[in-house]
Amino acid sequence: MSYLAVKDASKQFGGSVRALDGVSFTVERNEFFTLLGPSGCGKTTLLRSIAGFADLTAGSISLAGTGLDSVPSHKRDIGMVFQDYAVFPHLTVAENVAFGLKARKVPAAETAARVAEALATVRLGAMATRLPAALSGGQQQRIGLARAMVIRPKLLLMDEPLSNLDAKLRIDLRDEIRDIQKSIGIAAIYVTHDQEEALAISDRICVMNAGRIEQIGTPQEIYADPRTIFVASFVGTMNVLPREAASHLGMGPDVESGRAHQLAIRPEHIRLDQGDVAPDSIRLAGMVEKYTYLGREAHVLAQTPAGKIVVQLADPSPTLRMETGSPIPLAFRRQDILSFDSSGMRLEGRGN
Ligand SMILES: Nc1ncnc2c1ncn2[C@@H]1O[C@H](COP(=O)(O)OP(=O)(O)O)[C@@H](O)[C@H]1O
Ligand SMILES: [Mg+2]
Repeated sequence: MSYLAVKDASKQFGGSVRALDGVSFTVERNEFFTLLGPSGCGKTTLLRSIAGFADLTAGSISLAGTGLDSVPSHKRDIGMVFQDYAVFPHLTVAENVAFGLKARKVPAAETAARVAEALATVRLGAMATRLPAALSGGQQQRIGLARAMVIRPKLLLMDEPLSNLDAKLRIDLRDEIRDIQKSIGIAAIYVTHDQEEALAISDRICVMNAGRIEQIGTPQEIYADPRTIFVASFVGTMNVLPREAASHLGMGPDVESGRAHQLAIRPEHIRLDQGDVAPDSIRLAGMVEKYTYLGREAHVLAQTPAGKIVVQLADPSPTLRMETGSPIPLAFRRQDILSFDSSGMRLEGRGN
């Protein structure tokens, strides 16, 4: 039996808005599970339902073998970290972390020991007696994390905890969150709209769109084997081309039979044809519209008979110059083209 099981969860607001529409998934003990999707797709609503801050319109949730339907939020043993730090400004760092233990009437000596341990875990031991206002955004979010963990919850929920931080700090803290989750061995559900963050931090990712689940899989599966056009386009960069492009991409009968509606290929699957590509490669003559050198890689926006295509060149030569308007011969492998039907579902296998 799964540790956390969400079954057919639906949530309707005021009759018309379907924030969740038949959502089912499971999370295992120790797993880092991420809800990824654009703003408004239902991530927060789902997290709040699991925490018990909101009721589902239909469906059920169970945790560690117990149905949660009639369990109030403060008895669910769930820790939650929010986007805005939600710290109490008049309490010290240690008092903020101790808050949930006081509410649970944990004895003072045990509270002190557990607060010290939680602060050490998030590397705030030296800040225990300060007020939150004296701390940076990243440190304030660490208070949030310590406060959620100190109650030793059965499940840790995090709703976009890094989105108010700057880019460098976001990367540092996301790695730290992942390390802490693994070291204490807790089931975690993490919400983000940032696909790179989701790929970096998760054991599995659940991609959501308009209240529904598009796909659940490991980061590798989500990136390399997207089951829908939404997942293919939302995660990473994807060239999406209309079916009319098929004849330029060496596409055969499947397209002609009308099943493929859209075609897609990753920028890194297209390369410069310098006469050294495999004989079965498909060639495409392009014209440079824009060349962007980024050091480790370069991006070319190329105009081709199949449409505009973004090409990612790995390890570009610093002497390589690509002027706008100059020809660029491209090549790719047939099996790297994904095709999707008119409802956005991937057609079976690669190279269909
Ligand atoms: N309290 C509410 N009343 C009415 N509509 C809501 C409420 N909370 C969320 N919604 C709607 O439900 C949908 C999902 O919202 P939310 O779960 O916050 O998405 P996300 O966290 O993915 O951005 C949105 O259309 C949002 O406007
Ligand atoms: Mg949200």
